[in-house]
Amino acid sequence: MRSTITIMNAKGGVGKSTLVLTLAETLAACHGKRVLVIDSDAHASISNMLMRPDWVQAFQGQGRSIVDYLIAAVLKNETLPWISFLSAGVSDVDDARTVDLMPGGGHLTLFEREVSKAGLETRLRQAVRTLLAEARSAYDFVLIDSAPGLSVLTEVWLREVDFYLSPTKPDYISTHGLQFLGQFSQRDTAMGFAECLGVIISMKDRAAFEDAQYERWLRQNSKLPCFDQVIPRATSLQTAAHFCPRPRSYWAKYPGETGKALRQLAAELLVRNSAALTRKSYREGRAAE
Ligand SMILES: Nc1ncnc2c1ncn2[C@@H]1O[C@H](COP(=O)(O)OP(=O)(O)O)[C@@H](O)[C@H]1O
Ligand SMILES: [Mg+2]
Repeated sequence: MRSTITIMNAKGGVGKSTLVLTLAETLAACHGKRVLVIDSDAHASISNMLMRPDWVQAFQGQGRSIVDYLIAAVLKNETLPWISFLSAGVSDVDDARTVDLMPGGGHLTLFEREVSKAGLETRLRQAVRTLLAEARSAYDFVLIDSAPGLSVLTEVWLREVDFYLSPTKPDYISTHGLQFLGQFSQRDTAMGFAECLGVIISMKDRAAFEDAQYERWLRQNSKLPCFDQVIPRATSLQTAAHFCPRPRSYWAKYPGETGKALRQLAAELLVRNSAALTRKSYREGRAAE
């Protein structure tokens, strides 16, 4: 059951990159899944979370980021082997050896500007489709960490992947980012759009009355189905962003209740993913009749 999933909320700072990190490591360490993470944010946050920062810079310096791959495919019409843009076996978790990364590049915004200026959106979409088809054949999960906002590339991921997941903080502005995305998904429906696997409430402060109130509001009002499991606000999740040069165990990186919440979340994702894949193949079968 293979899936391509983009993690998206139009708002920044809601825990998207942290969710990609924790899901990739939990799916690898606790379920033996092969996971490819694609960093589609110019800030390269997830790359720096998964890999030593000097290695990220080395990859970028050698022109081996996802942006360089797309520049070749879209602006130069060259198809380079995507495997040479991979860093294999990233992550500082020693029992999560099956996480690979296509690192991000700071020239993403410039690239997107070139694509728009030259009207190459269709070629970009084709390049992304080809990449995803090849990656899908090698991994159980392809997770894309998107930048906030709805850039040209973010829109292409949303139209080409199987599913998307939306993390949100339990606050007013973060839920606005969700509503914006929901409205966007209803535009140009003929162009295709990923199915939503659900909303994940992140950074919930267990002791905050306001967070509990927003969680209730979200569960009642969201048109998108909220995961039962929430991600708590936790120091271990804040520090998880800091790549540790000495490998550590999953249990050391995600201890106690936090680790339990992440494992529960990953288990819920696996159930939703497999149900959504079944629905998708049924729809595709009907369309082919
Ligand atoms: N559950 C959490 N508990 C505590 N801090 C968190 C949690 N999730 C994310 N953070 C921190 O919040 C900040 C924003 O998270 P990040 O994942 O980078 O969000 P985004 O990718 O949406 O911009 C980062 O400093 C990150 O370490
Ligand atoms: Mg991010």
